[in-house]
Amino acid sequence: MRAIQIPAAGESLEAVDRDVPEVPRGHVLVRVSACGVCHSDVMAGAGMASSYPRIPGHEVAGTVETVGEGVEQWEPGQRVGVGWFGGACFVCDACRDGDFISCRVGKVTGLTSDGGYAEFVVAPADALAAVPDGLSDAEAAPLMCAGVTTFNGLRESGARPGDVVAVLGLGGLGHLGVQFAARMGFETVAIARGAEKEKFARELGAHHYIDSTADDVAGSLAALGGATVVLATVTDAEAMTATIGGLAPRGKLVVLGVPQEPLSVHAGAIIGGSQSLAGHASGSAKDSEDTLRFAALTGVRPLIETYPLEKAADGFERMMSGKARFRVVLTVD
Ligand SMILES: NC(=O)c1ccc[n+]([C@@H]2O[C@H](COP(=O)([O-])OP(=O)(O)OC[C@H]3O[C@@H](n4cnc5c(N)ncnc54)[C@H](OP(=O)(O)O)[C@@H]3O)[C@@H](O)[C@H]2O)c1
Ligand SMILES: [Zn+2]
Repeated sequence: MRAIQIPAAGESLEAVDRDVPEVPRGHVLVRVSACGVCHSDVMAGAGMASSYPRIPGHEVAGTVETVGEGVEQWEPGQRVGVGWFGGACFVCDACRDGDFISCRVGKVTGLTSDGGYAEFVVAPADALAAVPDGLSDAEAAPLMCAGVTTFNGLRESGARPGDVVAVLGLGGLGHLGVQFAARMGFETVAIARGAEKEKFARELGAHHYIDSTADDVAGSLAALGGATVVLATVTDAEAMTATIGGLAPRGKLVVLGVPQEPLSVHAGAIIGGSQSLAGHASGSAKDSEDTLRFAALTGVRPLIETYPLEKAADGFERMMSGKARFRVVLTVD
């Protein structure tokens, strides 16, 4: 099969021919049709994969090609997605509580197993989500990470319809976060750099726009009554902490983005109003299915730029440049 891999830690993407992988018991072979390029794909190049060479990619959409022994819930021809969640162990304390995304074994598609920058990917049967009619593969792919992470981060945030919810950043995650927030009934604030993104933000459903390069972000949020939740999708720590002064009493900064530098917060800034900071990891395959169905139902769609698989390195550069509007998706013909 054609595949794009990271040959070793610290190296760049390269195109290779690989054998179509074996399908172990309990696993499914998926023929990839589309794979989103997520900012987290940098982790494979940065040495965070469990072994090398490693094929990145955890926003996969395609069809079931074959199923391994013992797999009863999937059959060839079904449309499926595979996300960051690479399956659960079912025996650790988190799994026993039904919290599969926190599984201690931490199987991650594209990091601990090969991902979707390829013609085929193998995944455990419990890591697959059914893709509903009404979503194309290229539309479904980004929903498998950028989508489920923002959808799940919002629905588990504690915010209720009518609350002021801000989405910080308008990239791959953020542009979906704004759509989900608006469709979930929140008074939705988009925060991004520059005036140029305001038009997009409002088209995606934002009721308010804050240009972080020109406006006082915390002050603008406070003027709206304070944010119950800020969903932080950016890669910059200071941009995240700059929102804290705009949280409502008991408001929460939900951290999705992974800046390289630590978050620096004065305790006093979150004690007075009992605010909190929380991380949030993507979601399980069930959460992805909920995301796909919600998107199909409410019209949430990623805005995408497609690149053929062979041009994965160009697509990856495009994502890293911050110029993609808004998600790069690799397509496999
Ligand atoms: N928690 C999870 O499970 C999870 C899942 C997926 C991804 N992630 C992480 O989420 C982050 C975003 O991923 P993505 O795929 O959406 O990335 P992306 O499409 O490249 O978007 C990057 C975002 O970061 C913002 N940004 C970049 N440099 C900035 C700076 N110097 N100051 C302020 N903002 C800056 C951009 O803001 P503007 O819109 O203002 O340009 C943009 O919204 C990454 O760190 C990724 O690893 C986490
Ligand atoms: Zn991702």
